[in-house]
Amino acid sequence: MLEQYYIWCLAVVTIWLQVHVVSARDLRIVTEPKTPQSCTALKATSGDETKNIQNALDSCTRGKAVELSSGTFYSGPLTIPSGVSLLVGSGATLKALPDPTLYDLASKTCGTQDQYGVGCKAFITMHGATGSGIYGKGTIDGQGGEEMTGKNEAWWKMPANTNAKVNVRNAPRLIQINDSIDIILYQITLKNSPLYHIATSETYGLTVWGITIDTPSSAPNTDGVDPMGSQNVTIAHCSISTGDDNVAIKAITAPSRHISVLNNHFGTGHGMSIGSEITYGASDITVSGLTLDGTTNGLRIKSNTFRGGLVTGVTYSDVCMRSVKNPILLNMEYGSNIVGNLTPEFRNITFTNVKVLTSGTFTFDGLSDSKPIEATMKDVHIKKGSKWISKHAKISGTWAEDATGRVCGTTGNE
Ligand SMILES: *[C@@H]1O[C@H](CO)[C@@H](O)[C@H](O)[C@H]1NC(C)=O
Ligand SMILES: *[C@@H]1O[C@H](CO)[C@@H](O)[C@H](O)[C@H]1NC(C)=O
Ligand SMILES: *[C@@H]1O[C@H](CO)[C@@H](O)[C@H](O)[C@H]1NC(C)=O
Repeated sequence: MLEQYYIWCLAVVTIWLQVHVVSARDLRIVTEPKTPQSCTALKATSGDETKNIQNALDSCTRGKAVELSSGTFYSGPLTIPSGVSLLVGSGATLKALPDPTLYDLASKTCGTQDQYGVGCKAFITMHGATGSGIYGKGTIDGQGGEEMTGKNEAWWKMPANTNAKVNVRNAPRLIQINDSIDIILYQITLKNSPLYHIATSETYGLTVWGITIDTPSSAPNTDGVDPMGSQNVTIAHCSISTGDDNVAIKAITAPSRHISVLNNHFGTGHGMSIGSEITYGASDITVSGLTLDGTTNGLRIKSNTFRGGLVTGVTYSDVCMRSVKNPILLNMEYGSNIVGNLTPEFRNITFTNVKVLTSGTFTFDGLSDSKPIEATMKDVHIKKGSKWISKHAKISGTWAEDATGRVCGTTGNE
């Protein structure tokens, strides 16, 4: 009896700890995903494979995956139905055909620049899906650097519209996941997206585990993983090198909260970002075990009075950086010419066990002393010769210019 009582007490304490101590993260218990069984295995032919793959996806049993088993598959846009997954095997590559007409959303702007940049659908879409995913050790290649069909330019290099005041590229995102539940991306390699690699909107339960993103640093707007208005998100054991934010958490249409970014490695890119669109608020975010090697920014929260909102309950721990220009950049004046009346607030931001092995600029750029940036530092070690800029910011705790060592480990610790 007594033993049962102790076990019961232990269970209560454990649950209490999970609720109260780790609430700044994905509330689900997330473990390494398992690849589903295949409903069919396809081999590549040399033609346009869109119809074959889409038909296989549409007729696949829920809980199973359409396997691309070997060869190079060329395809236009695909939709992954609810409950079904796509599995790209280790010998297979899925390439996005670079023909803008295939992705055009009826305005004939895909493949051109205009003021809006919303003229193309994504290469792979999930919409209203539950339990779908993308798996496998193969590659999905967006071919952003290839010449577009019927044009002399690549997606990344399309010419500016001389009539428009603002030029935004209309190019497909690689993977767009909207209004979905329990989505998994596992092991897959993504490269050369024409625009963002993975973007979600109002998706609850997203696990991105052990994937690789490998795109040149010169490729514009090629964000790695962008959870937007999404909750219960885990991004773990990934390696991300790209040409824009490695990860960017945004809140344009709904709040983003309960997000864990665990044990990842970032190569080139614009860093671990929150913002700039945070109108609905971003909170309860843990970034732990992160190495940044050669990103332009490290830990960044960016917004402005046009896209502002509340960012709170963010903890960064066990982070190691090398060759990062702006290791910490908290900025409320991002894109200084964009102004409105949505004042950003950054509160309860904690940095614990952060090592920065090369000198850089640390910026805390708030907007007013009535609502300063509030951050806490514990065990923060930076390189001698670094620059520290603090405006309308309340920084508690201490940091020291005593970082030593030349290389980071793979997951944040030396
Ligand atoms: C997040 O996960 C927790 C634990 O599984 C669950 O109770 C909660 O409803 C989830 N939140 C959303 C928005 O789905
Ligand atoms: C996905 O959601 C975004 C809003 O975040 C919207 O702009 C886009 O059109 C949606 N795409 C689809 C395919 O529903
Ligand atoms: C600060 O955020 C943490 C989560 O990171 C949360 O547990 C804590 O309650 C917050 N503190 C305040 C004063 O809001």
